[in-house]
Amino acid sequence: MPLTLAPEDDALVAAARLARQHAFAPFSGFQVGAAVRLRDGRIITGCNVENATYGLTLCAERVAVFKAVSEGARPGDFEALAVAADTTEATPPCGACRQIVWEFCRDVPVLLASLDEVTVVTRMADLLPLPFDARLLR
Ligand code: THU
Repeated sequence: MPLTLAPEDDALVAAARLARQHAFAPFSGFQVGAAVRLRDGRIITGCNVENATYGLTLCAERVAVFKAVSEGARPGDFEALAVAADTTEATPPCGACRQIVWEFCRDVPVLLASLDEVTVVTRMADLLPLPFDARLLR
């Protein structure tokens, strides 16, 4: 059964799917799109950007979060994250992205989508239990 979403979440998933079309993934062929929604309503997208060294590849989620930060967003400004890939099973954020997303987005809802449906709705606290957190440094 397809999950029914609020209109703002539908728009977030649509933005992630569109961003996926810009993925630079000549090495893996695996294109991913991501989108974050800020509390002021802005949606900022990202796609994976691969590199011939492989290790320097950036995932779609980190690109979306870093773009948002570069446009002024700060921890507390993020409301939700969507990720889209052409897979039947969900494509959840990798471990590195979970830590980066946590830094800025904390415990936001996460929508994982294929090209035509949302397969998983979860939260960052479930994807990254017991996170290392900037609050520990204070
Ligand atoms: N990738 C993402 O962009 N996001 C994910 O959630 C998982 C993996 C990218 C990294 C690489 O370009 C390709 O997918 C294959 O791992």
